[in-house]
Amino acid sequence: MKILFLDQSGKPGGAELCLLDIAAPYRETCRVALFADGSFKTLLEQRQIPVQVLMQNGLQVRKESGLRQGLTSLGRLAPLIGRVAKLARDYDLIYANTQKALVVGAIASFLARRPLVYHLHDILSLDHFSRTNQRIAVALANRAALVIANSQASRQALIDAGGKGDRTVVIYNGFQPAAYRQPRQDRATLRRAWGLENSFVVGHFSRLSPWKGQHVLVEALAACPPQVAAILVGEALFGEEEYAKQLRRQVEALGLGDRVLFLGFQSDVTSLMHACDLIAHTSTAPEPFGRVVVEGMLCGRPVVAADAGGVRELIDPEKTGWLTSPGDAVALAAAIQQCFQQPEVGEARAIAAQSFASYRFHIDHVNAEIRAQLQRILAGME
Ligand code: UDP
Ligand code: GLC
Repeated sequence: MKILFLDQSGKPGGAELCLLDIAAPYRETCRVALFADGSFKTLLEQRQIPVQVLMQNGLQVRKESGLRQGLTSLGRLAPLIGRVAKLARDYDLIYANTQKALVVGAIASFLARRPLVYHLHDILSLDHFSRTNQRIAVALANRAALVIANSQASRQALIDAGGKGDRTVVIYNGFQPAAYRQPRQDRATLRRAWGLENSFVVGHFSRLSPWKGQHVLVEALAACPPQVAAILVGEALFGEEEYAKQLRRQVEALGLGDRVLFLGFQSDVTSLMHACDLIAHTSTAPEPFGRVVVEGMLCGRPVVAADAGGVRELIDPEKTGWLTSPGDAVALAAAIQQCFQQPEVGEARAIAAQSFASYRFHIDHVNAEIRAQLQRILAGME
């Protein structure tokens, strides 16, 4: 099967990390076309996946931009659409992995007469998108032969906004469980390097962004005993530097400078998670899927997550983790303290979660499901 994958980002967000695993089995015959240069390209090259950057400076349309800006940028998209349509003639189908890839992919699919598959990684609600962008995304998604939604929550939001349910299947992100069981760096060495060898360490792994809610964890920490510390792993990927500064100011103002560490973007998430005692997910808007939640489970760490969106499909509260109301720092502090004071409770949930996640989100099952769906689409074209 010859697939032309499209992704607008040069940076490795969750949708891009998901694509790495999806594209890998097709490396002999596929190509990933990116609309921006960056470290995502290097990750694809390391996995021997053919990659081509189509625009050096990337697209400047932001998620929240309105109709006028959207239309102006459509004019600028014309050469890109032309290149994609030309490329697509050598492939069996176009697989759009992001919103702007959908815009380009939908038009190119029409021009090149190739079916379009759209991998929906977003909850198309007004929490995340302007109404204009939501409408454009739904109209274009309705042109796709198949939409793969990363959770029931993402699928339902698409349908609620006017999307076609019969063409939309849910396929969760896939993971290689073995990769999360073996840390490459030693736990004690890492904790010593952080100056947190005697602390109860809560790990937060996400780009720094207001809706990812790192500020909620910082606030919760202020209500926890002084032995509880946090590492914030990730950086501002998509222009949220002001939030990163605000977080540092919040940490200073609460006098938590020696209990909250900013570690920036790290590629060895597995080792860092193993060095933590608890993983916290704190998104204030519904999380479409939440790779970090599954990664925490696969690393055998207890996970406390925000009770909304796709995360509800990942964690069974009481059994495989904790769910607390989004933005509720008091409830988060209570869950952290329960885990700190009763480690046996956290350990029992972590063991149950690890065995559940290792099966439910196994990359081999996920890739087999995607292959079957794509074959079905191509068979229908004959
Ligand atoms: N991640 C990473 N290094 C970091 C922070 C995050 O590799 O410093 C990874 C994290 O392990 C996860 C992904 O980035 O696989 C984020 O995906 P998620 O679905 O949690 O959120 P997104 O950012 O895509 O909304
Ligand atoms: C997006 C979503 C995230 C999801 C990831 C992979 O980046 O924000 O929730 O886990 O895609 O599907």
